[in-house]
Amino acid sequence: MLLWFLLLLFLGGGVHSSQPDTWSVYPPDISGKFTVPVDNFEYDSVDSFDLRYLGFDGFAEERKGRSIVLLYLGNEGQIESFYNASGFLFELASELSASVLFIEHRYYGESLPFGEDGSFTNEGLRYLSIEQTLADYSLFIAEGVPNLLGCEDCDVVIFGGSYGGMLAAWHRWKYPHLTVGALASGAPIDFYPETGIQNDFYDAFLHTYEISQEGCGATLDTLLRTKYSEDDLSHLNICSSESATVEAFLFYVRGAVSSLAMIDYPYELNFIAPLPANPVEVGCGLLIGGGDVVEPPIVQLRNLVDLYVNYTGDLACWDLDAELVSEGGGGGRMVGSSDLLGMTSWNYQACTELILEPITSDGFGFYPPDDGKESQKVIDRCKAMFGVTTRPEWMPLSFGTSEDYSKYLTNTILAENEKDPWHVGTQDVVANEKNELYRLFAEGGAHHQDLRFSDELDSEGVKAMRAKERDIIKNWLNL
Ligand SMILES: *[C@@H]1O[C@H](CO)[C@@H](O)[C@H](O)[C@H]1NC(C)=O
Ligand SMILES: *[C@@H]1O[C@H](CO)[C@@H](O)[C@H](O)[C@H]1NC(C)=O
Repeated sequence: MLLWFLLLLFLGGGVHSSQPDTWSVYPPDISGKFTVPVDNFEYDSVDSFDLRYLGFDGFAEERKGRSIVLLYLGNEGQIESFYNASGFLFELASELSASVLFIEHRYYGESLPFGEDGSFTNEGLRYLSIEQTLADYSLFIAEGVPNLLGCEDCDVVIFGGSYGGMLAAWHRWKYPHLTVGALASGAPIDFYPETGIQNDFYDAFLHTYEISQEGCGATLDTLLRTKYSEDDLSHLNICSSESATVEAFLFYVRGAVSSLAMIDYPYELNFIAPLPANPVEVGCGLLIGGGDVVEPPIVQLRNLVDLYVNYTGDLACWDLDAELVSEGGGGGRMVGSSDLLGMTSWNYQACTELILEPITSDGFGFYPPDDGKESQKVIDRCKAMFGVTTRPEWMPLSFGTSEDYSKYLTNTILAENEKDPWHVGTQDVVANEKNELYRLFAEGGAHHQDLRFSDELDSEGVKAMRAKERDIIKNWLNL
């Protein structure tokens, strides 16, 4: 309690550094709806619905037949959130006299094929897939964008962060003829079950703690490997005692501490969860800077997790099984989130094509389940929740693995940030000069930090990566 008080005092009196939402700097001057088929792969279907888009055209010069469009492919959320978190597109647009567009993903925000009532039933969710989404985006690029901007021959560069980055890379994979190139940041396109990558993910987030403060990663590792008993859980505020197992607790904790590493931005942000600047440093201060009093391990972990889930002090209790996909795992409610319907879509995707990806649901702790046994639990749970049978082998077959990308993926930048554990999902891709496949790595960067506004608090690594991205994109456009 005392620690908390001191921490809040410190933050309250400290220097506030935060990034503006893009919206408040460049409010959208384009917004509208683009109609797509409910089922892009049926030829007797006439059902259609609308995807929302937003854009900013304040930089676009008078068009003379040719025009540059920077298009962000929306991921799992309302389109405004991606608009707000992608300042780099606007910086680039200003330099290139380009138009900026953002399109919303089907089944998220207001882009619902059967409205709020019909879209989230097992029957209604049938048209939620990556293939359908990529086809929507192709229609938008081929028909929507030219109509909207009046350019016959628009040069479209696509962008995305996290799952949106995966969509950007995969759009290049499936529809390379429609765009000039893609910037995919923090995009784990090779993160499949039973490849051992979960261990790399674990090591990657410990690394983030270790570089923040020497010994912090090792301390956290020890705490995570400590054997806890059911009695230890009495130190915690768990909502339902039924779900209070040590296994569920540890899964919840791993989700929280890896997410904290992922969003370890150098400025205060309310992205995924409201957090102070450099939250890992603050967390390490709690773990190893605590002075003379040494708390029991479970209390140390609790304090660290509370920094992530309870920074505002509003969380009544830890909900270890909120909307869980993985049985025996732990989720929690995304702090401040009102997009609960989107969570259903996300869980459905985690149950179908994104198995082992963002699995802890509820947008709270992105932690993949263990290989093998735990994957099976997810599969069983998905059957029960949505009536779907996960086919873990389908995605690597249809979308490929690092080896395939290294050979065939073209005009794509895979941008990795050091502090983001998801970067291991592209670590085995080999850059390929001939195909203009680039792998960039930014020391000191957090989850797709390069897509945000440039900031004096960015590490040198992030600054250098953005400069490189700018050069490559200009080169694709022959500028
Ligand atoms: C986007 O930014 C604007 C301006 O700060 C804010 O009013 C709005 O709530 C934000 N929307 C989202 C979804 O983040
Ligand atoms: C969240 O923080 C508040 C204020 O410090 C505290 O009263 C509450 O017990 C915390 N919640 C949990 C689940 O620990």
